[in-house]
Parts: sequence; structure tokens; C-alpha cells
Amino acid sequence: MLLALRIPSPTRPARIRAPRPPHGTIPALLLLALLGCQPPAQPGDAGSAFRQAGGSFPAAWTFSADADPVTATEGMVATTDAYASRVGVDILAAGGNAVDAAVATGLALAVVNPEAGNLGGGGFMMVRLADGTVHAQDHREKAPIAATRDMYLDEDGNVTDRSTVGHLAAGVPGSVAGLWEAHRRFGVLPWAEVVQPAIDLANGFEVTVRLVSTLDAAQSGIRAVPASARVFLPGDAVPAVGDTFSQPDLAGVLTRLRDQGPDDFYRGETAALIVAEMERGGGIMTLEDLDRYATVWREPVSFDYRGYTIHSMPPPSSGGLTMAAIANIVERWDLGEMGWNSPETIHVMAESFRRAYADRNEYLADPDFVELPTDEFLSETYADARAATISLDRATPSSQVNPGIEAFLDESHTTHYSVVDGAGNAVAVTTSVNSWYGGKVVVDGAGFFLNNTMDDFAAKPGTPNQFGLVQGERNAVGPEKRMLSAMSPTIVEDPDGDLFLLTGTPGGSTIITTVLQSIMNVVDHGMNVVQAVHAPRVHHQHLPDLVFFEHQGLPAATVQALEAFGHTVRERDPGPPDAYFAGGMSGDVQMIMVMPDGSFTGWSDPRRGGRTEGR
Ligand code: DON
Repeated sequence: MLLALRIPSPTRPARIRAPRPPHGTIPALLLLALLGCQPPAQPGDAGSAFRQAGGSFPAAWTFSADADPVTATEGMVATTDAYASRVGVDILAAGGNAVDAAVATGLALAVVNPEAGNLGGGGFMMVRLADGTVHAQDHREKAPIAATRDMYLDEDGNVTDRSTVGHLAAGVPGSVAGLWEAHRRFGVLPWAEVVQPAIDLANGFEVTVRLVSTLDAAQSGIRAVPASARVFLPGDAVPAVGDTFSQPDLAGVLTRLRDQGPDDFYRGETAALIVAEMERGGGIMTLEDLDRYATVWREPVSFDYRGYTIHSMPPPSSGGLTMAAIANIVERWDLGEMGWNSPETIHVMAESFRRAYADRNEYLADPDFVELPTDEFLSETYADARAATISLDRATPSSQVNPGIEAFLDESHTTHYSVVDGAGNAVAVTTSVNSWYGGKVVVDGAGFFLNNTMDDFAAKPGTPNQFGLVQGERNAVGPEKRMLSAMSPTIVEDPDGDLFLLTGTPGGSTIITTVLQSIMNVVDHGMNVVQAVHAPRVHHQHLPDLVFFEHQGLPAATVQALEAFGHTVRERDPGPPDAYFAGGMSGDVQMIMVMPDGSFTGWSDPRRGGRTEGR
């Protein structure tokens, strides 16, 4: 049956790679990078296999298919923020490896991107060392010991906002432990040297448009918490672009982190400040919770996609396994032949997304608490069975894939960064406080926001969370349990087993489909790194039963063709104009590609305005 679905592709090249840019462009680009500027989109780079095959983006689409990437030979850092990317490149220049640079970058993001970068949240780190070994580090938040299954329900059993706002929304933070442990295991520079740049930034940096935009959007929630407003709305106002923004309390926490390591955060003065904040605001996190927090090195999820090996995060991230399931299903069709963004390709992708998300939402959770069908997600038999139910003519309603209820997709915040060094070590990290500025609670005296990641649990199984994900009993709240995540830092090897791509993104439930599309854009459609990041994306998550597409990302004829298949298609709302963030878009991919000569090309997603720097 499945063989009948497979479209043979005898002439398709085994690997499609963007050609490397002419050497003459490198000095100019490096100069721009040193000046802190990602080069603007340049017309005229028709050099990718995608362009050579006549590929183009929809006429109304916002971003160019013809921009030159940032290039470098000694190392590269792609983040959402120019300050943070600069910190990472400086650490590489000082003799640090990719892990040192990633740790310094992560701490810098906690200072300059407090809406997502964090000390009070958690995340996942993928490391691929130059020797080819791959490591997956889980520093996801945990539910406090006092957490209970129904803690977010009111007397009538309805979900309250306590999983998203305020002190009860916070899981026990993992970022500090994660960055420390990564450095302890793999770093080469002294710890103090990788922490220092973040301290310097906390002592004052020039306010960016990005900080103003995110504070503007979140200011009513921040204003409601006096300790948060005191730090982030000085004089009861969002700071202005160009102001010097100093965070002395945060500088104090970072200085203690530099001098005492994570002991201060989990057992010392900072721990005491967190617990005092909890007691003030009716939270349940205790010193025992902080003391017991530990990161976990887990077995990476590794799977083959058309000859490339994709390494990504295992549970409690759902990213690796869900991507594996989708990849194994879509591999039964030659999407390159079928054409990028064609109705047929989008149909196959949406049907695969729908099925894999149905299983993700139902089965995946914290592996330390729940037995998971890991092998099924990875197996060809599973993919065969799921693919066999896909009709090439007709969308399968989600109600026939798995019973469910209508839900809603929303947008909030997380951040991803990708780092490579000249020796070929690679680090991909996705980290989050969940919503923008988490639960809006700053730890008084410590100057950082706590996450609201408890909302990633199914507060009431079968009811949508803030991303519209309808998740099951296995992901219910439980003491010391980690909440299921979609965060998917990912590293890809080429068919020779060499380092090829680093990718990752924020975007809540859309993370998994965005990361996989960034890879498929390269592997299936021959895009270069800029095109793979710029290309408009689609998304389906089983429930709600909708194919989402980005604002102006699909031509009307394609939408009609998808509707003719039976899909309900929803264009994302651009919302009010924003000074910094592209409206109606999903994701913020930070991607680095290793070129055949060993040099790097990289690109930061313009949807949220990041910055790639190389050296
Ligand atoms: O772990 C997760 O899946 C979510 N906490 C991620 C949140 C996110 O990406 C929000 N950003 N846009």
C-alpha cells in the first residue's frame, strides 16, 4: 500500500546544497557583522538549487528569496539579539569553544531579552562535538513538590488563569543549572570569563527597539506586579530606545553566579529571594524544590530523513519524536518533486502534522513519570500505518484521527540560539519563560522574571492550553514532574555524517513544524540558509482542525486548492503594526549551515529581527 504512495525520484540528487558564496563578499559581510549589522537582503543571489530550479516565494510575501547570508570561517552565533550574538562571537575570539560561547550568549540573552532569555525559566541544549558525539541536555523546569493535578481548576472544575499569570504559574527554574552543567562538562574557558559579559550588560546597555516592543506589549501585566514594574517600568513607563537600562539586582545575581556557581541560585542568597517572593505572592516553590533541581543528560532522538541524520531533543520535549514521526510519514512522498508550497505538498505535510500531533498530544510527557511509546514514534511500521490512512485527494478531519475539541492558537515567547566554533563543535539551545515575561513576576531583589511554564502541563486534560494544544492525562500536573515541551533545538548531519545544519525556533506549538520545515526547505527544496529561514510556513497541530499559514504566505489559488481537499485554512492575523515584530508570522529561526568547504553561512529570522554574527 505504502509503496503505491511513494513517488519514485530516480533523478533527484541525493543531496542538495546551496553553493557557497563568492569569497569576495566575505570581508564586506564580516565588516557589517563587526559593526553589529546583519546585511540587508541583497537581490541577485540566484545561486541556490531552489532558485536554479525556478523556485520562488509568493508575490505578496514579506521576505526575499534572494538575500546573501552572513558568512564566516572561524565560528558563528545566531540569536535574536545583536548584543547577545556579539557576546558569543567575542567568547569564541577569546579562545572559547561553542559551549563557552553558548553559555555566555544564554546569560547575555537573560539580560537583554528578558521577555524570553532567562535565569527564571528553562530549556534544552543539543551539543554536537567535533568528534561527532551528540549530547542532549534537559534543563526544563519542574513542578514544585507541592503541585497537584487540579491546582489550576476552580471549584467548578474550570481552568483558571493561575497556570499563566502569577506565582503559581512558575515551575522550578532550570536554566542556571543547565548552563553551569554544560560549561562544567564541555567548556574550556574559566567560568568567570563566560559569565562576565552578562554582568557588564546588566550594569547598563542601550535600550533596543525590541525591548521597547516587548515591554509595550506586556506592560499591563508587568504593571500589576510592583516588583516587576519597579525594574522594567522605571518611572512607570517603558524605557525609551537609546536610554541606558541598568539592572543592578540582576547584576548582583550574576555576580554571585560568577563567584559561587549555581549554589547561590539554588541554595544561597538568590534561592532565599525566590522563596521570599513565593511566600509574598502565594506561590508554592520552596527551598527544597530549588535544592533538589537537577539537569539531566538524555539520549538524543536521532533519525534519518532522506539520508540526513537529524538529532533533536527527547522527552520531556516532544520535538524530536514528533519530528521523527512526521519525517517518517512525509518521506513516503517526494516533496521536492511535488514542489515547495504546492497544494499537494502542503496537503501531505498537513496530514502528517495532524497525525503526529494527535499522538504527541495524547502520549508524550515526562519520561521520568510516564512510560512513553518512544519506539513507535521512531518506527517505520508506525509511519506506514499512519501514512496508509492519508488520502491524496481528501483531508481527514481531525475528529477521525483522534476525538477532540475546538481550540485556539496563540503566540507568546521563547528564544533559540545556534553556535558553532572553528573546530566544528556545535550547540543549539532553545530556552523559555513560556509567555512573554513569563508569569510577569520579577523576584524582588533579584531582578529576573519567573516562568509560567506550568501552563505547558494539561491543567485539565482534554482542554486547550495557551497554544491551543489539547493534551492528555499523561501530561497532567504532578509533583516534581517536567511539563511536556515543543522546544526542539536540532542539529543535522549530512549523508556523510558531517555537521550540516543547526536550527531551532520559539513559537509554542508551532516550534516542531517550523523546525522541520526549515530542514525540509534545505533537504527537499534546495534552499540556502536565508531562503530556508525566510520561506513562509504552514502549521497543523491536530486540534484545532485548521491549516494555519502566515500572513500573505500562500497565494489565493493555493488556499482554494487546499480547501478543495477539504482543509479549513486559516491565515494568521497580522494584528496591529509593531515597530519590531512582523505581524501574522510564526517562529524566529536561528539557522547555521556548514558549507562544503567547511565555512559557515547563517541567518537570523527577520520575523522577530535577530542577528547572526560570524568571525
Ligand atoms: O516548551 C514549550 O513548548 C513552550 N513553553 C514554548 C513557548 C514558546 O515557544 C513561546 N514562544 N513563542
